[in-house]
Amino acid sequence: MDYQPKSLPIITYGHPTLRVKCERVTEFNEELARFAADMFRTLHDNDGVGLAASQVDRRIQLLVVGVPQKDTEELLHIVVINPEILETRGSWDYEEGCLSVPELRDVVTRPEWIKLKYQDLSGKEHVLEADKLLARVLQHEIDHLNGVLFVDHLSVVRRALMNGKLKQLERENAKVCM
Ligand code: CO
Repeated sequence: MDYQPKSLPIITYGHPTLRVKCERVTEFNEELARFAADMFRTLHDNDGVGLAASQVDRRIQLLVVGVPQKDTEELLHIVVINPEILETRGSWDYEEGCLSVPELRDVVTRPEWIKLKYQDLSGKEHVLEADKLLARVLQHEIDHLNGVLFVDHLSVVRRALMNGKLKQLERENAKVCM
């Protein structure tokens, strides 16, 4: 593909698009492939391990991951479209952060293992079994496509500790929208 991917601006907490349920992708065309390339460029420019389309203000069910593989130094890159979690197992506590909720991190409990159905850029269906970090990132990004953020998983007490910073992010977004 002869295309120079560009880095897209990431929206943050308080932006309405982070709260919508994204639309299923129905057209698997060149434009979608270019968008996925832009998503990877944006992911790497921001040192992320996962990014959902809604985080760049695009309301479609597409996410990208770039996580270190278990046995090698290489990153595993996957484009995940129209994901559906079929099965989960176990429970794992792990500290999460989010490019759309800058500076805040906290421990979130999620299933340790998932079985996932998704489509690739050509529309072909895949079933993937993932555990640990890959399962974690996929669940975090799938949440994004449903308008859910990691802070929504925290207890009222933990969330209250973040309230000052979250309110500040909301105010910054309000300014941008004026
Ligand atoms: Co996130």
